[in-house]
Amino acid sequence: MSEIESANETQTGKQESRIFPPPATFQAQANVSGMDDYRALCAAAQTDEQDFWCKLAREQLQWHKPFTQGLDESNAPFYTWFADGEMNVSYNCLDVHLTNGNADKTAIIFEADDGTSSKISYRELHQKVSKFANGLRSLGVKKGDRVIIYMPMSVEGVAAMQACARIGATHSVVFGGFSAKSLQERIIDAGAVAVITSDYQVRGGKQLPLKAIVDEAFTLGGCEGIANVVVYQRTGGQVHWSTRDIWLHELTKDQPADCEPEWVSAEHPLFILYTSGSTGKPKGVQHSSGGYLLWTKLTMQWVFDLKPTDVFWCTADIGWVTGHSYIAYGPLAAGATQIVFEGIPTFPNAGRFWSTIEKHKTTIFYTAPTAIRSLIKAADGDATIHPNKFNLTSLRLLGSVGEPINPEAWMWYYKNVGRDLCPIVDTFWQTETGGIMMSPLPGATPLVPGSCTLPLPGIASAIVDEAGHDLPNGQGGLLVVKRPWPSMIRTIWNDPERFKKSYFPEELGGNIYLAGDGAIRNKETGYFTITGRIDDVLNVSGHRMGTMEIESALVANPMVAEAAVVGRPDDTTGEAICAFVVLKRSRPTGDEARQIAIELRNWVAKEIGPIAKPKEIRFGDNLPKTRSGKIMRRLLRILAKGEVITQDVSTLENPAILEQLKEAL
Ligand code: WTA
Repeated sequence: MSEIESANETQTGKQESRIFPPPATFQAQANVSGMDDYRALCAAAQTDEQDFWCKLAREQLQWHKPFTQGLDESNAPFYTWFADGEMNVSYNCLDVHLTNGNADKTAIIFEADDGTSSKISYRELHQKVSKFANGLRSLGVKKGDRVIIYMPMSVEGVAAMQACARIGATHSVVFGGFSAKSLQERIIDAGAVAVITSDYQVRGGKQLPLKAIVDEAFTLGGCEGIANVVVYQRTGGQVHWSTRDIWLHELTKDQPADCEPEWVSAEHPLFILYTSGSTGKPKGVQHSSGGYLLWTKLTMQWVFDLKPTDVFWCTADIGWVTGHSYIAYGPLAAGATQIVFEGIPTFPNAGRFWSTIEKHKTTIFYTAPTAIRSLIKAADGDATIHPNKFNLTSLRLLGSVGEPINPEAWMWYYKNVGRDLCPIVDTFWQTETGGIMMSPLPGATPLVPGSCTLPLPGIASAIVDEAGHDLPNGQGGLLVVKRPWPSMIRTIWNDPERFKKSYFPEELGGNIYLAGDGAIRNKETGYFTITGRIDDVLNVSGHRMGTMEIESALVANPMVAEAAVVGRPDDTTGEAICAFVVLKRSRPTGDEARQIAIELRNWVAKEIGPIAKPKEIRFGDNLPKTRSGKIMRRLLRILAKGEVITQDVSTLENPAILEQLKEAL
């Protein structure tokens, strides 16, 4: 494909002049082919919104009892979709494939950490999930119960989610990198009745305990509601056992391989997934069954252009929303063959992604910018693991998710992994949106590096000012969505008020969705570029972190009097966590300061998880504050970047403190 030069300005200050139209061969075979097709879908959604969504819901999903209404706005912003329809998500992901020719098709290729792999067909997965579901039922888990899943990347992890869906239990997956304390908090908030975990997880050649962390969560208290802990035996390593524990293989061994699904309302909560917000504790984002599945399936077809012969690989973990929508649900509903990868991108070396693509003839590859950036570095240092050393000719489509992709990383991905042939879909979405909101459609949308381009059909993205007024293209503002869509968040578990305040604030009229990101549209193309979070949420390696959460963890340490956490740009991880700390004792310096910094980093790992460890900690006698006592985070951000403060600091109570906080340890 040729690189067409045009004077396309992104208005973010830098000039992005490259545009990549879809290759003719890709466009010719695409599910949505050409911009006219895309525009026709958008027009259909606008002309008759109800009809548009209802038709798709009837075509895409099988209903046990048909719905009579699509969107119901009577209790906005608690919108509902297809609410009087009955269905089952697991039925729509598995049973439907037993009779449509997919029964013996490979559903999952499991690529283990050690490089061995295995396959499971749709028929076999259906059996596995059915036995699992029957096992859970035999323990008394029933419709509406909450089940915590704390599992490694595995077929069993996906099966656990599907089994819950099958019996109408609402799952809450907790990422395997979270600490016992984080796990305990989620168990309590969700009011869970069971935990599904694994003895160990295997990553990068190491065995890391999971079951032991569940045990530790119990010792922290408040987990009495958990009647059973189901344990998948991954390694056979040593574990402590108590009367509430049961091995998965023992639970399922005598269970029938068939399990009548629990038919639930389309609005039945399929899952709760905890994510960081700007204040307080993580919020339990609650998703539906029908609307959620409709959108995850549809976006597989539109954004990933899924075809029956594709081998799809999403590298996300099932502990994050991407692993929910584009591993556990979307690909299965769409009947895809997909790779589930246990390991890490750098083991046994940083060529692992490329060798795995080659090995399984992957056709669609979906990963995060952080991974790409770290593999660029690795390939620069070691030519033997450069993507050009592997046969990647099976690839036809690439995707990116989780954070802005910088144009340089985009170009490297495009040239070296996609060999100038594969469109890249830069997909913008959030835990709350359930599925992709803005993205190129690979057979239609001309690509611009660094832009997620345009909203998908039916998604009413817009940019407004603080009062909710539309802004013209070229002017940055708040990203909002003006109309409800099927896979949207339904509420925050246990906290409907916080749901309204966070996502449908009164200042914007109370019925348009506030994403929490800033964005700007290009003057000529109308393309969207995400400019970053507008709240106190950081994005570190594509993982969402609340600055307040990390601050609370730090001040919980007996040594700490006060802490302020800010993000600073990082070449590899996108953002890095920088903490400014005041100790109860005098300000440490030199080796002592370095030692305390290590202790505090480990403390945060214990409180939240290793992913929340500050990259940098600086100590001061105080923090920069206004006379009314407000911490000036704006100034801390400048210091964290290593830049000089040029603005007026006369409103500060204690300007001298800035000098102290300037230097990194
Ligand atoms: C950011 C992940 C730019 C954004 C699916 C959003 C992105 C947050 C992109 C949600 C993208 C996600 N370009 N920024 N393509 N995708 N983000 O909930 O700030 O873990 O609000 O969902 O990631 O992160 P979450």
